[in-house]
Amino acid sequence: MKNIFITMEGPDGAGKSTQIELLKKYFEGKDIEVVLTREPGGTRISEAVRAVILNKEYKEMDYKTELMLYTAARAQLVAEVIKPALLQGKAVICDRFVDSSAVYQGMGRGLGVEQVYKINEYALDGLKPILTILLDLDATEGIRRKKNQAELDRMEEESIDFHKKVVEGYRQLAELDKDRIYKIDATLPVEEIAKLIREEVDKRI
Ligand code: TMP
Repeated sequence: MKNIFITMEGPDGAGKSTQIELLKKYFEGKDIEVVLTREPGGTRISEAVRAVILNKEYKEMDYKTELMLYTAARAQLVAEVIKPALLQGKAVICDRFVDSSAVYQGMGRGLGVEQVYKINEYALDGLKPILTILLDLDATEGIRRKKNQAELDRMEEESIDFHKKVVEGYRQLAELDKDRIYKIDATLPVEEIAKLIREEVDKRI
Protein backbone atom coordinates (compact mmCIF):
# COMPACT_ATOMS: atom_id res chain seq x y z
CA MET A 1 0.00 0.00 0.00
CA LYS A 2 1.19 3.49 -0.84
CA ASN A 3 1.83 6.21 1.71
CA ILE A 4 -1.73 7.43 2.23
CA PHE A 5 -1.41 11.16 2.52
CA ILE A 6 -4.58 13.02 1.51
CA THR A 7 -5.22 16.74 1.68
CA MET A 8 -8.56 18.53 1.71
CA GLU A 9 -8.78 21.98 0.15
CA GLY A 10 -11.40 24.58 -0.59
CA PRO A 11 -12.52 28.08 0.34
CA ASP A 12 -13.64 28.90 3.86
CA GLY A 13 -17.07 27.39 4.51
CA ALA A 14 -16.88 24.61 1.89
CA GLY A 15 -17.47 21.80 4.42
CA LYS A 16 -13.99 20.32 4.66
CA SER A 17 -14.23 19.32 8.34
CA THR A 18 -17.41 17.30 7.82
CA GLN A 19 -15.91 15.40 4.90
CA ILE A 20 -12.65 14.77 6.74
CA GLU A 21 -14.55 13.16 9.62
CA LEU A 22 -16.53 10.96 7.21
CA LEU A 23 -13.36 9.91 5.38
CA LYS A 24 -11.69 9.05 8.68
CA LYS A 25 -14.58 6.71 9.52
CA TYR A 26 -14.27 5.12 6.09
CA PHE A 27 -10.58 4.33 6.67
CA GLU A 28 -11.27 3.02 10.14
CA GLY A 29 -13.87 0.69 8.65
CA LYS A 30 -11.05 -0.72 6.54
CA ASP A 31 -8.86 -1.13 9.63
CA ILE A 32 -6.49 1.59 8.53
CA GLU A 33 -5.29 3.83 11.33
CA VAL A 34 -5.80 7.50 10.54
CA VAL A 35 -4.18 10.68 11.73
CA LEU A 36 -6.23 13.84 11.21
CA THR A 37 -4.50 17.14 11.22
CA ARG A 38 -4.97 20.69 10.07
CA GLU A 39 -3.14 23.68 8.72
CA PRO A 40 -2.03 26.05 9.98
CA GLY A 41 -1.68 24.04 13.19
CA GLY A 42 -1.52 20.42 14.24
CA THR A 43 1.48 20.73 16.56
CA ARG A 44 2.15 22.84 19.64
CA ILE A 45 4.46 25.14 17.69
CA SER A 46 2.28 25.30 14.57
CA GLU A 47 -0.81 26.13 16.65
CA ALA A 48 1.14 28.98 18.26
CA VAL A 49 2.09 30.24 14.79
CA ARG A 50 -1.58 29.92 13.75
CA ALA A 51 -2.62 32.19 16.59
CA VAL A 52 -0.22 34.85 15.29
CA ILE A 53 -1.29 34.48 11.65
CA LEU A 54 -5.02 34.70 12.31
CA ASN A 55 -4.92 37.41 14.98
CA LYS A 56 -7.11 40.25 13.71
CA GLU A 57 -5.00 42.82 15.55
CA TYR A 58 -1.99 42.20 13.29
CA LYS A 59 -3.32 44.31 10.44
CA GLU A 60 0.24 45.38 9.57
CA MET A 61 1.38 41.84 8.65
CA ASP A 62 3.39 41.92 5.43
CA TYR A 63 2.29 39.34 2.83
CA LYS A 64 5.76 37.81 2.71
CA THR A 65 5.73 37.41 6.49
CA GLU A 66 2.33 35.76 6.20
CA LEU A 67 3.68 33.29 3.62
CA MET A 68 6.74 32.51 5.74
CA LEU A 69 4.63 31.91 8.84
CA TYR A 70 2.32 29.48 7.04
CA THR A 71 5.40 27.74 5.65
CA ALA A 72 7.09 27.57 9.06
CA ALA A 73 3.97 26.07 10.64
CA ARG A 74 3.94 23.51 7.81
CA ALA A 75 7.61 22.57 8.23
CA GLN A 76 6.96 21.68 11.86
CA LEU A 77 3.80 19.71 11.05
CA VAL A 78 5.55 17.71 8.32
CA ALA A 79 8.53 16.88 10.53
CA GLU A 80 6.68 16.23 13.78
CA VAL A 81 3.42 14.63 12.66
CA ILE A 82 2.95 13.77 8.99
CA LYS A 83 6.21 12.04 8.11
CA PRO A 84 6.40 9.97 11.31
CA ALA A 85 2.76 8.84 10.90
CA LEU A 86 3.32 7.78 7.28
CA LEU A 87 6.45 5.89 8.31
CA GLN A 88 4.34 3.97 10.83
CA GLY A 89 1.95 2.99 8.02
CA LYS A 90 -0.88 5.27 9.14
CA ALA A 91 -3.04 7.27 6.76
CA VAL A 92 -2.84 11.04 7.16
CA ILE A 93 -5.65 13.42 6.22
CA CYS A 94 -4.73 17.07 6.39
CA ASP A 95 -7.24 19.93 6.42
CA ARG A 96 -5.46 22.30 3.99
CA PHE A 97 -1.84 22.04 2.85
CA VAL A 98 0.55 23.74 0.47
CA ASP A 99 -2.17 24.43 -2.14
CA SER A 100 -3.78 26.79 0.35
CA SER A 101 -0.60 28.85 0.32
CA ALA A 102 -0.54 28.68 -3.49
CA VAL A 103 -4.02 30.19 -3.78
CA TYR A 104 -4.30 32.45 -0.71
CA GLN A 105 -0.76 33.86 -0.77
CA GLY A 106 0.26 33.09 -4.36
CA MET A 107 -2.92 34.28 -6.06
CA GLY A 108 -4.98 36.11 -3.43
CA ARG A 109 -2.03 38.15 -2.15
CA GLY A 110 -0.37 38.17 -5.56
CA LEU A 111 2.97 36.70 -4.45
CA GLY A 112 2.95 34.21 -7.34
CA VAL A 113 2.23 30.49 -7.30
CA GLU A 114 5.70 29.45 -8.49
CA GLN A 115 7.32 31.45 -5.74
CA VAL A 116 5.08 29.89 -3.10
CA TYR A 117 5.79 26.32 -4.21
CA LYS A 118 9.50 27.12 -4.39
CA ILE A 119 9.65 28.39 -0.83
CA ASN A 120 7.58 25.45 0.36
CA GLU A 121 9.92 22.89 -1.18
CA TYR A 122 12.23 23.43 1.75
CA ALA A 123 9.48 22.82 4.31
CA LEU A 124 7.99 19.80 2.54
CA ASP A 125 11.20 17.83 2.17
CA GLY A 126 9.84 15.85 -0.81
CA LEU A 127 6.42 15.14 0.72
CA LYS A 128 3.47 15.16 -1.70
CA PRO A 129 -0.18 14.14 -1.24
CA ILE A 130 -1.35 11.11 -3.25
CA LEU A 131 -4.70 12.87 -3.56
CA THR A 132 -6.02 16.37 -2.95
CA ILE A 133 -9.75 16.83 -2.69
CA LEU A 134 -10.99 20.26 -3.64
CA LEU A 135 -14.45 21.24 -2.39
CA ASP A 136 -15.43 23.87 -4.89
CA LEU A 137 -17.78 26.59 -3.69
CA ASP A 138 -18.49 30.17 -4.79
CA ALA A 139 -16.85 32.76 -2.57
CA THR A 140 -20.07 34.53 -1.59
CA GLU A 141 -21.69 31.29 -0.45
CA GLY A 142 -18.58 30.25 1.52
CA ILE A 143 -18.41 33.51 3.44
CA ARG A 144 -22.16 33.46 4.06
CA ARG A 145 -21.84 29.98 5.61
CA LYS A 146 -18.89 31.11 7.75
CA LYS A 147 -20.64 34.21 9.01
CA ASN A 148 -23.40 31.99 10.36
CA GLN A 149 -20.88 29.84 12.23
CA ALA A 150 -18.45 32.01 14.16
CA GLU A 151 -16.55 35.25 14.43
CA LEU A 152 -14.39 35.77 11.34
CA ASP A 153 -10.57 35.55 11.63
CA ARG A 154 -7.96 37.80 9.93
CA MET A 155 -8.13 35.87 6.64
CA GLU A 156 -11.89 35.40 6.57
CA GLU A 157 -12.32 39.13 7.13
CA GLU A 158 -10.64 39.84 3.78
CA SER A 159 -12.70 41.43 1.00
CA ILE A 160 -15.02 39.42 -1.19
CA ASP A 161 -12.67 40.13 -4.12
CA PHE A 162 -9.88 38.38 -2.26
CA HIS A 163 -12.06 35.33 -1.66
CA LYS A 164 -13.12 35.32 -5.31
CA LYS A 165 -9.44 35.19 -6.33
CA VAL A 166 -8.99 32.26 -3.96
CA VAL A 167 -11.88 30.31 -5.50
CA GLU A 168 -10.67 31.09 -9.03
CA GLY A 169 -7.15 30.12 -7.96
CA TYR A 170 -8.30 26.72 -6.75
CA ARG A 171 -10.12 26.11 -10.02
CA GLN A 172 -6.98 26.96 -12.00
CA LEU A 173 -4.82 24.67 -9.87
CA ALA A 174 -7.28 21.82 -10.34
CA GLU A 175 -7.10 22.30 -14.12
CA LEU A 176 -3.30 22.27 -14.05
CA ASP A 177 -2.94 19.18 -11.88
CA LYS A 178 -5.88 16.94 -12.70
CA ASP A 179 -4.01 13.78 -11.67
CA ARG A 180 -3.64 14.88 -8.09
CA ILE A 181 -6.51 17.33 -7.50
CA TYR A 182 -10.05 15.98 -7.55
CA LYS A 183 -12.63 18.78 -7.67
CA ILE A 184 -16.12 18.26 -6.26
CA ASP A 185 -19.11 20.59 -6.23
CA ALA A 186 -19.50 21.50 -2.54
CA THR A 187 -23.20 22.31 -2.93
CA LEU A 188 -24.01 18.60 -3.42
CA PRO A 189 -25.56 16.78 -0.46
CA VAL A 190 -23.01 15.76 2.20
CA GLU A 191 -23.49 12.02 1.67
CA GLU A 192 -23.10 12.33 -2.10
CA ILE A 193 -19.81 14.22 -1.69
CA ALA A 194 -18.62 11.58 0.78
CA LYS A 195 -19.41 8.83 -1.73
CA LEU A 196 -17.49 10.59 -4.53
CA ILE A 197 -14.53 10.99 -2.19
CA ARG A 198 -14.60 7.31 -1.16
CA GLU A 199 -14.67 6.21 -4.80
CA GLU A 200 -11.70 8.40 -5.64
CA VAL A 201 -9.77 7.27 -2.58
CA ASP A 202 -10.33 3.63 -3.50
CA LYS A 203 -8.75 4.23 -6.88
CA ARG A 204 -5.59 5.55 -5.22
CA ILE A 205 -4.90 3.12 -2.39
P1 TMP B 1 -8.95 27.37 8.46
O1 TMP B 1 -9.99 28.41 8.81
O2 TMP B 1 -9.37 26.48 7.35
O3 TMP B 1 -8.43 26.64 9.64
O4 TMP B 1 -7.69 28.15 7.84
C1 TMP B 1 -7.27 29.35 8.33
C2 TMP B 1 -7.17 30.40 7.25
O5 TMP B 1 -5.83 30.43 6.74
C3 TMP B 1 -8.08 30.19 6.07
O6 TMP B 1 -8.71 31.45 5.80
C4 TMP B 1 -7.16 29.85 4.93
C5 TMP B 1 -5.86 30.48 5.32
N1 TMP B 1 -4.64 29.82 4.83
C6 TMP B 1 -3.77 30.52 4.02
O7 TMP B 1 -4.03 31.68 3.70
N2 TMP B 1 -2.62 29.92 3.61
C7 TMP B 1 -2.27 28.66 3.99
O8 TMP B 1 -1.21 28.15 3.61
C8 TMP B 1 -3.20 27.93 4.84
C9 TMP B 1 -2.85 26.54 5.28
C10 TMP B 1 -4.36 28.55 5.23
